Amino acid sequence: MKFCTALLLAGFSPKSAISFSYRALPAGTVNLSSSVERDVYNMAEWAAGYGVQQAEGVQLTSYDGQDYFPMTQTYIPAGSPVMYVPADLTFTSSKSLREFGNSLSMCENQLIQANLQDKVPLFRIFFKVVAEYEKGLDSPWYPWLNSLPRIFNTGASMTYACFDCLPPYAAYLALSERQNFVNFQKAIRNGPFSEEILKNVTVLKWAYNVALTRSTDIGGGERVIAPLADMFNHGSETEIKISFDGNGDCYAYATVDVPAGSPLRVSYGDPTDPTPLFASYGFLDESSPGTFCKLMNMRSEMEALGYTYANLLFYRETGGISSEVYDVVLYHVLLNSDDAGAADGFYRAVVSGDEGTKSQYHDQYWPYTKQELQKHVDGTLRDLERWSAKANSYDLNTHPRVPLILQHNAFVKETFLRVKMNLDAM
Ligand SMILES: *[C@@H]1O[C@H](CO)[C@@H](O)[C@H](O)[C@H]1NC(C)=O
Ligand SMILES: *[C@@H]1O[C@H](CO)[C@@H](O)[C@H](O)[C@H]1NC(C)=O
Repeated sequence: MKFCTALLLAGFSPKSAISFSYRALPAGTVNLSSSVERDVYNMAEWAAGYGVQQAEGVQLTSYDGQDYFPMTQTYIPAGSPVMYVPADLTFTSSKSLREFGNSLSMCENQLIQANLQDKVPLFRIFFKVVAEYEKGLDSPWYPWLNSLPRIFNTGASMTYACFDCLPPYAAYLALSERQNFVNFQKAIRNGPFSEEILKNVTVLKWAYNVALTRSTDIGGGERVIAPLADMFNHGSETEIKISFDGNGDCYAYATVDVPAGSPLRVSYGDPTDPTPLFASYGFLDESSPGTFCKLMNMRSEMEALGYTYANLLFYRETGGISSEVYDVVLYHVLLNSDDAGAADGFYRAVVSGDEGTKSQYHDQYWPYTKQELQKHVDGTLRDLERWSAKANSYDLNTHPRVPLILQHNAFVKETFLRVKMNLDAM
């Protein structure tokens, strides 16, 4: 395949003026009813008409009629181009700012007052999605919008009933997504959209989910959605890397030799623990090697030692425990003992990287560390039973995210059971 950057179709001019009048939604806005099927194949034709190119053999595929992803029917050697999306078709944070100017900035100020500066690039994408949704059939992006999922399982879509069935870290991340959405909803109230849009939570939540799950952070305060290239699924092993040139054109390349019949996957983020991706994107990456050890009550010890959630891992296959977990638990034990000197000595050994002294402390206090860890693991396993029993008691018709929640909890339980076997044998 040859990529041609000059391939911008004549006649493609996204309309930049948005309507400032308050009126009913135009006929032809995308029907967001959960029973509507995604029109993915018309979108692929539309994309080709606007200059999107794909390597021969790359096809959108679905196993369940809901999740669609590119797959290759032919062998693709490493380094080959797989997809090209011209800049004119992409949504970017900076293009939104240029297009909407003051009316966007006014809304952003509200976000900044809510201390969500770091969400501004995402908000700009959200704003553009809402603007194009409102135009209905008049939007050049209509076929793309109409191809998108109607149902999302992200934290923003979950309810308090869902949060009640999740371990505290997953619940906390999912709830943060929901709170971000609520803040976006408030901020866009000052936007130049019809009342029907601004008051419609279904539309705004859908736009938030679209912006969040289909845009990529490319650094420098810029997020981008490149239609069609937004179809790649996440993998902990990946075949594809996406890059943008100076003109904003999007290129997807194969990073490895890809056999015929393979899905083409990119990375949405750190694959070591599936929970952050679960909360943001609403899927469980079963190939994740581990999970956060759920020591939420030791957050301050974790931060004091300079660790993050991503360091504190239990490994699923082996039941292994990361060394940082032992450090945090021992520090917690020492802080809660009468021996302030020991807590301080251990702290200094950890932050200065004095491995010798550190392991002396670990040897000396091992029975206490082990006991504390066992208490935590056994307690979490009991909690997981309780949370999953609660999830099972919900009606699937009103709580469609129960299966995903159960899947998440089962993943955590399996990991914790292996860790328990190891711990008990130590
Ligand atoms: C919100 O928009 C959706 C999708 O267009 C529509 O089905 C629903 O009836 C609207 N809800 C209200 C309260 O207007
Ligand atoms: C949206 O789609 C649903 C399901 O197909 C249908 O029942 C409903 O009438 C549609 N709404 C509109 C406004 O077309």
